[in-house]
Order: sequence, then C-alpha cells, then structure tokens
Amino acid sequence: MPHSPSQEKPFNLTSISPTRLATSLFTSTFATRPTVAASAPGRVNLIGEHTDYNGGPVLPVALERRTAVAARAAQRWAFVSDTEVTVHTVDIDGEMRGAWTDYLVGVVRELRSLRAAPPGAEVALSTNLPLGAGLSSSAALTVATAKALSLLAGKRLPDEALVEVAFRAEYHQVGVRCGRMDQTIAAHAERGSALFFDTASGMLRLVPLPGRLWIVETGVSHRLTGGALNERRRECEEALAFCRDWRPGLAHLAQLSPRDLPEVERRLPPPLVPRVRHVITETARTRNAADALAAGDLAVLGRLLVAGHESLRVDYQSTIPEADHIVASAMEHGALGARLTGAGWGGAVVVLAPAEREARTVAEIGSDFQKRYQRMPVTWSTRASRGVRRETIPD
Ligand code: GLA
Repeated sequence: MPHSPSQEKPFNLTSISPTRLATSLFTSTFATRPTVAASAPGRVNLIGEHTDYNGGPVLPVALERRTAVAARAAQRWAFVSDTEVTVHTVDIDGEMRGAWTDYLVGVVRELRSLRAAPPGAEVALSTNLPLGAGLSSSAALTVATAKALSLLAGKRLPDEALVEVAFRAEYHQVGVRCGRMDQTIAAHAERGSALFFDTASGMLRLVPLPGRLWIVETGVSHRLTGGALNERRRECEEALAFCRDWRPGLAHLAQLSPRDLPEVERRLPPPLVPRVRHVITETARTRNAADALAAGDLAVLGRLLVAGHESLRVDYQSTIPEADHIVASAMEHGALGARLTGAGWGGAVVVLAPAEREARTVAEIGSDFQKRYQRMPVTWSTRASRGVRRETIPD
C-alpha cells in the first residue's frame, strides 16, 4: 500500500478489534451504521520469496493482525481510513490517484466485471497491521474489501473468486506485478497452520504451525517496492525467454532444477544468473521447509530460513543492511532461524526461536539493533491465524 513512514498510529490501538474501530469510524463519519463488515489478515511469509510469480511454491502464515472494512450501500463511492481523517469521494471510472484509495477502486472495478459490486457505497477501514512493513497490508485491504462489497451486492463469492478480484485489482488496476501469494493466504488461511501453496498447480496444503513467530520490523518502509518488484519480475521474464532457447517447453523458472544451474550459468547474461539461481534454490528450500515443518523439525526449518535470507541478500539483492543485521543478531542469540519476509527493500524480519528463550532472543536482537542504529525496532509475535471472514457488526 502506498504510504509514508509517518503513518504509525498515534495511540496504541492494536488491542481493540479493527472491526469495532471500522464500525465506529463509519458511524462517526457517515452518521449512519454500516450494514456489512468483513476482515482479512496480513501475512508473514515463512519462506518461498519471489517464487510465486515464477511458478514456485510459497509457505505463508496469516497474522493475527487484520484489516477490517465496514460498508453500506450509497449513491456515491466514499472511502475513509483510520490512518488519516480525510473522506475520499471517488469516481470509479476516473484516473487512479497514486494513493491507497486506488486499491479500493481496483476492487470495485473487478467486482463490477463479475456483476458483484453494489452501485455505490460508503466504506470505512481500520487496520492494526503496520503499513509498508512487508506484511501484506494491501492484500488484507483488497480481500476484505472484496468480501464486504460483494456481500453488499448480495453475492457470496467463494474464496477463490475473492483471491482473483484482489489479485487483479493490485496487478491490473494498481499496476504492482505481484504474484498471488498474499491474496491466497488472506483468503484461505486456517488458524494454527501455515499454507503451502504450489503456485504452478494451484495446490494448497495446510501445514500445522502450533508455536509463535516473532516479527522484528526494520523500520525501513518498503515504499519503493512496487518499482523494484516490477524490475525483478522483468528480469525473471527475460531470463525465462533465454532459458526457452534451450528448453522450449519451459513454463516457469521454478521448473528448473539445481542440476540445470551450470547450463543457466553458461547461457544467460551474467546479471540474470543470480536471479534464476535464487528462484531454483528457493523452490527447493520451500519444499524442504514445508516437509520439515510438517515433521516438526524446527531446527531444519530454521536453517532453511537463514539460507533463504542469504539467497535474497546475495542473489536476489532484495535485502537491506538493517535486515541482515537482525538476522545475524537473531542467530547469535539462539534463534533457530530468521529471514527478511515479503518483497524486501525494507520491511520486517521473521524470527523462529525456541519457545523457552524467545523473549530473551528478541530482547537481545532489540538491544543489538539499538546499539547499531540508535533506535529500538518494533517487535511483536503472532500465531497462525485465519483468513477472510464476514464480521458481526458490533453494537
Ligand atoms: C510481494 C508480492 C507477492 C510476492 C512477494 C515476494 O509481497 O505481492 O506476490 O511476490 O512480494 O515473495
């Protein structure tokens, strides 16, 4: 979601449910009560980074933190969010504005093409997700909005359709060349499980994740992610075209195996080689990570996370020094694994620590970071939560 780093909420509102806040914001803004509400979670990707648009697997987890949307049919389109005070009256067919409202406009346009949008609506949003932290606040927003507005139009779209509406809104309407990981986890997540998603086949498999994950925010907003992500995606498409000279039927880069690496190194322009190497090795790591998690082998899972971070740092070049510092510090202080999560170029690190020393590990990471960067990083933990849902409107 486009934003400025100063969009942190002034008060600690994270303990009040976003649905309650969205409802209250709606009522105070539009002087009437909403008729529907829905919410969807952000996500932390355990592993499988930059594989979803290359036909590879991903292993995301839904956060307990969510975005809620409260809405009511109206003669116009008006949006308000608790990250600012302005009410935006929007022309759905007008120019995109380069603001968060574009995501909602995109959702409405996509719902219209399915005849699943109301003629107009007033909409209020509240989120307790950090924005720009690589935790998929945009998919939480688009999936929750797709759910709320389609309900308002009297349609009960299946989760697959919500994923498609949200994906198309971001990819085709807003223009971020994302894959489908974020929308898929926001829609399909189940409490207590990570979701293994094979993007080539569409196969989904829940993998139990009983413990907690820790999030350490770098405090570096990934505002430039859209551009950098689009650039990496272009490189991957170029690499795929080169690979097809020698493997004509190749559908995705993730179909290559580690055995193909020497040929990749021989045939591709040197700058593209590390990008492909990341996709190939990350694909293998993600499959192994899902197996390790399913077997309860957190030590193996942790090592794969660290190897994944190294690959992002060296081959995909999407990490930042703050994240590298947090990962190194986590490993020094007894974590099982840690890696930058999400698109990168800012955002947050996910830390997997043994339950008996997690608080200590995270405190030590904070203290190291403070020494190096003269500020404390924001840290918090989450259990695996559930996907989009209709919410009861609170009194
Ligand atoms: C962003 C995109 C996802 C995925 C990740 C990188 O979050 O929205 O589709 O590509 O980056 O793994």
